Amino acid sequence: MKKVGILVGREQSFPESLIQRINERGAGEVTAEYVKLGGIRYDDPPRYDLIIDRISHEIPFYRAFLKRAALEGAIIINNPFWWSADDKFFNYSLATKLGVAIPKTVLLPQKDYIQGVTSESLRNLEFPLDWQAIVDYTGMPAIIKPFDGGGWKNVSRVNSLEELWHVYDQTGTLCMTLQEFVEFDQFVRCYCIGQEEVMIMPYDPRKPYLSGEQYLHNPNYLTPELAARVTNDVHTLCRALGYDINTVEFAIKEGVPYAIDFMNPAPDAELISVGEFYHNWVTDAVVRLVFKRLAEPRANATRYRWDALLNPDAAKEESAPETALAAVASAAEQAARTIVPEPVREIGADIAAGVGALMSDAASAVSGIVEAVSQPKEETKPPRNATSTKRTAPAKKPAVSRKKKPETEL
Ligand SMILES: Nc1ncnc2c1ncn2[C@@H]1O[C@H](COP(=O)(O)OP(=O)(O)OP(=O)(O)O)[C@@H](O)[C@H]1O
Ligand SMILES: [Mg+2]
Repeated sequence: MKKVGILVGREQSFPESLIQRINERGAGEVTAEYVKLGGIRYDDPPRYDLIIDRISHEIPFYRAFLKRAALEGAIIINNPFWWSADDKFFNYSLATKLGVAIPKTVLLPQKDYIQGVTSESLRNLEFPLDWQAIVDYTGMPAIIKPFDGGGWKNVSRVNSLEELWHVYDQTGTLCMTLQEFVEFDQFVRCYCIGQEEVMIMPYDPRKPYLSGEQYLHNPNYLTPELAARVTNDVHTLCRALGYDINTVEFAIKEGVPYAIDFMNPAPDAELISVGEFYHNWVTDAVVRLVFKRLAEPRANATRYRWDALLNPDAAKEESAPETALAAVASAAEQAARTIVPEPVREIGADIAAGVGALMSDAASAVSGIVEAVSQPKEETKPPRNATSTKRTAPAKKPAVSRKKKPETEL
């Protein structure tokens, strides 16, 4: 008998539907349940053959448990190692290498830093920033959003340099990106399951969450040519990133689909939000994925190397198949759709293959670090510059403390 565990946050209907349908199809051979966790021993025996993770981006304890479960041979969807390593700015940069259109995007130095980071610590930063050059590149209006965020948290549209500074001054220690605003003619959010099955959903971000008007069911929303390009882009991105459950969002302008968000490894699938049709489609697609992954042959011997955990597919290709680690779901939520009003927020209303090499490079770097760490040398702790309490930020204006973020799980 194989066991599937579901790790969830606040969402209701999607995990319930998943558990019910996996148990029905499993007929006693495969069972699904909510994962239940207390203190986890480092030698905790394996409890699940496969775990679907919907919430570890918000709960570090879950992320740590999942990495260990992977080490014990559980298939984790999505790969907790890659998810931990990923960010949206990397995603945009990757997309351009893969020929997927993205809006012009700039990574901004943080406004503020953790305590103990002084002006001395920040000598690698240009100061002041050449804001004019940055906005000349992105144009106005622009979108300022976290480089690794989700759930519309801290996403603002800005129309001028002054508005940009005003919002930036409130971003605290968050690392932000500034992005060209795409005045889209059409907008789609696409599920991609198992890096294969794609569902294009016409989606209107200008409509309120749970209004029932965000997700439209219209199979003819895109022309066949555009639908084919979008599907191809979705495959390219999800295969390169290795996510088995993901959504890719496109703002479409003058026939060009610009990928604006494709790091959604726990996408909204709630009945009340996406509607019955999409809820049923994504549930069934994930059930198919679960049974497919459970049926795949697993290597017996494991190579305990971090690079294999980060990118198991590439590691398999490089080594003898019998020694490859097949512990993690094939290569890596929007959180609650909490809409955080920002002072100048206007978006409430309008708002990866060749990468194998990139991933392998990253993995090699990690394994190099691991080797270095496993051969104790002299201590390599960076010097602390904690003597001064003066805080420096590459900002135009004095720091303004950021508003506390609300809980945003789904
Ligand atoms: N470059 C852009 N051009 C136009 N609209 C944008 C752009 N970037 C973001 N938006 C709007 O802001 C919304 C939130 O941005 P984004 O998806 O990047 O952030 P998120 O926090 O991951 O949100 P979500 O939880 O919806 O995935 C998008 O759904 C879109 O409506
Ligand atoms: Mg999004």
